[in-house]
Amino acid sequence: MHQEQTILHTLTNTPVQCQVTVIFDGERTQFELPSDGKALVDAAIDAGVDAPWSCHAGICCTCKAKVLEGQVHMKHRYGLLDEEIEQGYILTCQSHPTSETLVVDYDV
Ligand code: FES
Repeated sequence: MHQEQTILHTLTNTPVQCQVTVIFDGERTQFELPSDGKALVDAAIDAGVDAPWSCHAGICCTCKAKVLEGQVHMKHRYGLLDEEIEQGYILTCQSHPTSETLVVDYDV
């Protein structure tokens, strides 16, 4: 169902309102984030998560986390290997949700 929603989003370019769960230092924080809103790391910080970042340009990988559920679009991904992306790793400073739910783990 999420894949269908993502395809629909891509076809219509209609923003998706995503329910995000971020896991950091063993704590889960939830917030909403539209697909056309802030980058995931910025939204997480706004929600009170002490999420790490440095370059905010997709290079340093300080903001790296793993998607456990859902999907994102990354604007840039200079610091990630193809194998890491295949394993679900993302750069949260470059990521925007494209699914209605998203679970991201900084602890992995
Ligand atoms: S903060 Fe450097 S890659 Fe995201």
